[in-house]
Parts: sequence; structure tokens; C-alpha cells
Amino acid sequence: MIDADTKAKLFAAAKAAKENAYVPYSNFRVGAAILLSDGTIETGCNVENASYGAAICAERTALTKITSNGRRDVVAICVTGDTDDVITPCGICRQFIFEFGDDIPVICTNKDGEEMELTINELLPHGFRLEI
Ligand code: THU
Repeated sequence: MIDADTKAKLFAAAKAAKENAYVPYSNFRVGAAILLSDGTIETGCNVENASYGAAICAERTALTKITSNGRRDVVAICVTGDTDDVITPCGICRQFIFEFGDDIPVICTNKDGEEMELTINELLPHGFRLEI
């Protein structure tokens, strides 16, 4: 479990990132924040495209940013939207998070910061691994 102070920091970062969402097609803003092992927080927002299927979710934006910076040490990820209900990551994002670890805590929040914390294993039981 992630402590309340850390959760508050992650929610604030995800909420700020949400404001940068590029969502001319859905008008559905999403923000994500990742806690790294040294305490660094990286963020992401959803970025849509005229070719709808080319959109990228906030969670994957944040995960590609940390990877591009040479980091894979995800301690936790928080996701938020302008919603009354907490947002949970889409299926593609669950599989994407799973690549970074089995039991990463995923803090799913609503617009007010109300939250539901689940591990990626709980969100994605039996996630895919490529055995080669
Ligand atoms: N979206 C996310 O950013 N994360 C999710 O986990 C679910 C969906 C975005 C994609 C699209 O820009 C918008 O929300 C509506 O589906």
C-alpha cells in the first residue's frame, strides 16, 4: 500500500498533467503520474489524433517518458480524470503497466482524489508474458 502523503503527491501531479491532455475528439481528459524508486514523479496525459486509433493514453505516455529517460523502476502509478467515478486503466494500459512489474500498485482516482488502490495483478490477472 502507498502512504496517504505519497498518494496525495501523485494525485496532484496526475491532476496537473490532465490539464495538458490533447483531447479534441473525446474531450475526455486523463492524467497519470508514476512514482520512481528515488522518489521522482513523472507524468503523462492522453494525446489524441485525427486518426482515432493513433491516440495514446495518459498511462502509456508517462511510461514511455520514463523508459525514454532510461528508467523502468516503477514503484506506483496514479491515474485520474474529470469523472465522478474513479478511472481504471484500459486493457492496453494494463498490459503495458504489467511489463514493468507484477504487483505495481495502481491508484485509480476520480476528479476529487477519491481513490481505489489495486495492484496490476488484480487489474490484469494472468497478464501476457512473452516466453522466448
Ligand atoms: N484514456 C486514457 O488516457 N487512459 C485510459 O486508461 C482510458 C482511456 C483516454 C484515451 C482517449 O483519449 C480518451 O481517454 C477516451 O477514451
